[in-house]
Amino acid sequence: MNKTKNIIQRINFLKTEIARHNEFYYGQDNPKISDKEYDDLVKELEDLEKNYPLFSSSESPVKKVSSFASSTFAPVKHLSPMLSLDNTYSKEEFSVWYERALKSLGTEDLEFIIEPKVDGLSASLIYTKGVLTKAATRGDGEIGEDITENIKTISDIPKSLLNKKEPPGIFELRGEVYMSQNDFESLNAKILQEGGQKFANPRNAAAGSLRQKNSQITAQRQLKFFVHSFGSASGMNFKNHYDFLTYCKQCGFVLQEYIKICKTIDEIFSFFDLMEQKRDTLPYEIDGLVIKINDYSLQNMLGRTNKSPRWAIAFKFPAKQASAKLNKIEVQVGRTGALTPRASLEPTALAGVMISHATLHNFEEIERLNVNEGDIVLIERAGEVIPKIIKVLDKGGAGFFKPPSNCPSCNSKIVKENEDEVAYRCVNPECPAQFTRHLIHFVSRNAMDIDGLGEVIIERLVQKKKLNSLSDIYNLKFEDFIEIELFKDKRAHNLINAIDESKSRPLNRLLFALGIRHIGQKSSELIAQKFKTMDALFSASFDDFVQIDEVGEVLSQSLIDFFKESETRRIINSLSAAGVNMTEPDIEDAGKQFDGLTFVLTGELKSYTRTQAGQIIKSLGGKISSSVSKKTNFVLAGADAGSKLQKAKKLGVAIMDEEEFKNISSLHGNKHR
Ligand code: IVH
Repeated sequence: MNKTKNIIQRINFLKTEIARHNEFYYGQDNPKISDKEYDDLVKELEDLEKNYPLFSSSESPVKKVSSFASSTFAPVKHLSPMLSLDNTYSKEEFSVWYERALKSLGTEDLEFIIEPKVDGLSASLIYTKGVLTKAATRGDGEIGEDITENIKTISDIPKSLLNKKEPPGIFELRGEVYMSQNDFESLNAKILQEGGQKFANPRNAAAGSLRQKNSQITAQRQLKFFVHSFGSASGMNFKNHYDFLTYCKQCGFVLQEYIKICKTIDEIFSFFDLMEQKRDTLPYEIDGLVIKINDYSLQNMLGRTNKSPRWAIAFKFPAKQASAKLNKIEVQVGRTGALTPRASLEPTALAGVMISHATLHNFEEIERLNVNEGDIVLIERAGEVIPKIIKVLDKGGAGFFKPPSNCPSCNSKIVKENEDEVAYRCVNPECPAQFTRHLIHFVSRNAMDIDGLGEVIIERLVQKKKLNSLSDIYNLKFEDFIEIELFKDKRAHNLINAIDESKSRPLNRLLFALGIRHIGQKSSELIAQKFKTMDALFSASFDDFVQIDEVGEVLSQSLIDFFKESETRRIINSLSAAGVNMTEPDIEDAGKQFDGLTFVLTGELKSYTRTQAGQIIKSLGGKISSSVSKKTNFVLAGADAGSKLQKAKKLGVAIMDEEEFKNISSLHGNKHR
């Protein structure tokens, strides 16, 4: 009985933990654990669900592609799902995948094509008859966010395919949007100069730049793009991945410099070793290689699981390690009062970056590592997250560091709320450190997004007693900034404008910004969409909250607790009086795949009547015309199509057959006979 309880508890813990890290990674572009640690959580949950199928559920995170689409952008349904890749972390693990592929295909003679795994974010581009008509983020793999205007600002992405000879009717191209190391550094330098919050790494910078409402900002960010795969490609018959890449190059896309075809596992390993050495010399970040079976008919034979293809795998580079002296253990107070230790290190070079801090997670971790100030420690940086301490190499200090008994900010007594909890907390509601962190969260990029109001400025304004409550942000004056040294007129003006602009953020941003316990970005969006106004939230019941998909009992209780506080009412009233928006706009209509395209129907369709097909085309934004001309974008041709089809061929108009049409329309939820 106890064992069962433990298993259920562990499964629930893993689900919550995975959802929490999905939110950090995809929602906030701010991962807290490495890919390896994330994969380990997923693997453990997968194993438990496999061994105890009774406790597995269809909405388990192991069964779907992670990430989510936010409500900031209109949703776009992908024509074919955007999958993720399985990861391997060692030559042994990779060999297992390799051997399985040979065995499944019953051959020893396989060709692999290998590309560096670019550390960016994936995007899907739709070219309709060679013209870029739609672009979307991956989202949850089925539905992404419409980022067409932002994608159009990327110079690596042709607005129309250069290879104009018979472009595919619909070409759904996938690739990685990334920021080069140099552009990342210049962007951060500029942000710092303007007093803003810098990006932690190029991936976050690329994600933050791509998901801008204002495409002029994206245009200034020098994003780049490498094509790596495709979904639909009507009328194209690529034999293998190499052919596809060559075609993309002719179309005007940029390919990575290091792409290699290998026939044996030894060749793959040598290329892996070579790229691991070259990794830091590339102008952009890579975190491993992607190994793909080259031949498309063999890829099709292997197929895919519901999350990832079986014909490709990511082979990640090992984490980078170095030794460093731990100078000091700093204790930070978070916005909920939780105390978190952090190691301040003697600045140490690790894979080309100077490291001066490492995470220590919590005080139990310090005890486990038996680490103290003065020790020499082994640090590791996996991917993009802040480095962590693996072990003590040489003991300089005695024993391990003990948690303080008083808050380092306000000196109040520290408590451990219950024995199971690992966090120590300062529970003084007036604690200045908590309030400062709260303000920093409130103005942060995914919350009220006040560009230029960085940590240092907030700290100074709190010290100067200019910020005593959240709404004080909206009372700040030009002079308040000018009084802070190094603040020039222009910067102060920009900041005043940014503060003013933030007043119109939708309700979901404000909800997230308020920092309600357990309420992340995604739940804020779901809640705001349902209730629409702040007033409705104040009068909502526990049952109203719990009815929202993905808002469970813990979140609902947290919302109830928050909205019944008289302090909450006071905060909201003063924000509202300052002019902060308290409503959520409706989500825009789904991105329409056939926007502005003209279709002519001809021949006999098996699965649709003419009227049905016409309705579907119109529902996807297209128009129907009765005669074929140069202006026609597509001829939808059924069986026994006659003169209209001939004319289309003569004029070079793209022809879509019924199968293709069925694929596209059923993906948009349209039914056929
Ligand atoms: S191939 C699954 N090739 O890695 C569809 N993906 O972790 C085939 N990525 O979602 C993808 N570099 O966004 C492929 N050279 C590359 C890649 C690459 C980066 C991304 C891609 C994918 C993610 C999976």
